[in-house]
Amino acid sequence: MNDENYSTIIREKNDIVDIIGERIPLVKKGKNFFGVCPFHDDTSPSLCVSREKQIYTCFSCHATGNVFSFIMDYEHLTFGEALHYLGEKVGISINGLHLKQKNSKYQKYYDIYDFTVKYFQNNLKSEIGARARNYLKERKIDDKIIKEFQIGLSLKNKDDLTKILTLKQYDLVDLNKIGLASDGHDIYSDRIMFPLYDISGKVVGFSGRVYNGDKDNKYVNTKETPIFKKGECLYHYHIAKEEARVKKNIILMEGFMDVIRASTIGIKNTIALMGTALTNEQIKLIKRLSNNIILCLDGDEPGRKAAYNIGNIFLKENIEVKVITLPNDDDPDSFILKEGKDSFLSYIENALNYNDYKIKVMRENVNFNSIEETSNYINNVIDEISTIDDEIRIEIILKKLAKDFNIGYNTLEKKFLNKRGEHNKTKAQNIIKDQQKSHKNKYQKAIEQIIYFMLTNEWVISEVDRANLLITDENMRLLVREICYYYHTYGKVNIADMITYLNDKEKLLIKLNEILYSSYSDQVDKETLYLYFNVIKDDNVNKQIKVLENRLKNELDPIKQAKIGNEIRALRIGDNRNG
Ligand code: UTP
Ligand code: MN
Repeated sequence: MNDENYSTIIREKNDIVDIIGERIPLVKKGKNFFGVCPFHDDTSPSLCVSREKQIYTCFSCHATGNVFSFIMDYEHLTFGEALHYLGEKVGISINGLHLKQKNSKYQKYYDIYDFTVKYFQNNLKSEIGARARNYLKERKIDDKIIKEFQIGLSLKNKDDLTKILTLKQYDLVDLNKIGLASDGHDIYSDRIMFPLYDISGKVVGFSGRVYNGDKDNKYVNTKETPIFKKGECLYHYHIAKEEARVKKNIILMEGFMDVIRASTIGIKNTIALMGTALTNEQIKLIKRLSNNIILCLDGDEPGRKAAYNIGNIFLKENIEVKVITLPNDDDPDSFILKEGKDSFLSYIENALNYNDYKIKVMRENVNFNSIEETSNYINNVIDEISTIDDEIRIEIILKKLAKDFNIGYNTLEKKFLNKRGEHNKTKAQNIIKDQQKSHKNKYQKAIEQIIYFMLTNEWVISEVDRANLLITDENMRLLVREICYYYHTYGKVNIADMITYLNDKEKLLIKLNEILYSSYSDQVDKETLYLYFNVIKDDNVNKQIKVLENRLKNELDPIKQAKIGNEIRALRIGDNRNG
């Protein structure tokens, strides 16, 4: 049996109404069940669960999915973990089952990395590693840490690793591809090697640190490879994943040395950014861990700037953000070494809520002797708190402002209420703008409706196959292709299984979700279907005409002009409509 079959069986045996109902109260209304959506702040029952289709949709935040996606998002699990959990629930053990990994075609690369890690570890332990060991000792990185984080050493002789790997029959092309060699030479020479892990804990790269005199780069990292995507790299993610569930929050740091140090004092719900700007992929990964994030970046100016910016990003994602500000010349690593565990724990304990942090930062560099700067500051603070939803906090902040600057509370409150009014107005305008943006044209609606029919009426699939529609939108075209492929491979198709199937094709899954919460009809006959096909065909013709018209505009040769004119006329009459 293949993996698709296993996930289908496990999905079919876990009724989505039961699984969601175990976690949030559901009320039956007509065919469907309704509850308060756990994926956004809400009190009204906007989550709709369909027993018939085995999917859920939230009409407010547009969360959509099947039983697997619900468990993944609700319990912060990966797909594999959700499969395991739901499998156990219905007596299907997936232990020992060789689950198809998304990347199993890269197994050879993982093997090379596993070997290389051991090779580097041996170098560090051997005589030649004495100096490196000494460096680590001076940095208070003991043998236990070296072992736990699989720290090793690359050798000065430039071709050692490449030689050994090729002796083991690995291909030079592969070594180049995965960032270990270049033109037959090792990439890393005489550096302390820190393995980098992907989110499931497999080694997929290295960061090599100088320890032996000065060189240009403090750290050299593996280049982007088929198994190492920089934008998705978060050091320690696979460990933090477990810890975050217990601690209910996640601590974000700048460097992996910080994470390693925190781990030595038992703080393991930490991840590190690895010196890159935060990417959308990383945000998504972090959201999977927890909705509470504590930023603990370096204490210097760039670290503070980063905390300010990253905090804003997370806030927009509806994540609760707190900020720790370390002394100016410290990073978590140096701070823990100097001040010890208890001191660091109390910094975590006293992390500032992001809004409070922002207000504190605004205060810096204001010259309170200047009337203008002071009033600017007060206005900025009021601006800032107009987005806060907590009346008590607002009152405390306003009272403090009134006291600090000897201004009447009523004056400040009046100003605040004005600001909040403006804020609410822009919020409403943005919502309208979003709605307008998502206002789809006839063509888009037709293709989405057709896709929905394909998922709810299997006979539509062969009609679509036969009609040979030209779908210009890439994601829609791919989605249609995937549905056809799935149907022809597994002999059936439904929405819930399609969601699982598209699990690693994110753009298509987003498209599918969009279609699911748009409330399309699932009742269709041939005649109606052909009407939708014609919308697509007409749209194609119109697009062709537009291209020709543009060409006509720029054409100077009268003979060619006439020819294009004829083509346009033919299209308009509909000669090509069935061709
Ligand atoms: P830091 O310079 O803060 O590293 O860079 P660190 O943790 O304090 O390192 P030590 O204590 O000097 O050994 C943070 C992260 O930025 C990346 C690394 O991933 C590092 O963990 N970085 C930094 C590089 O990739 N290259 C560099 O040259 C420097
Ligand atoms: Mn450091």
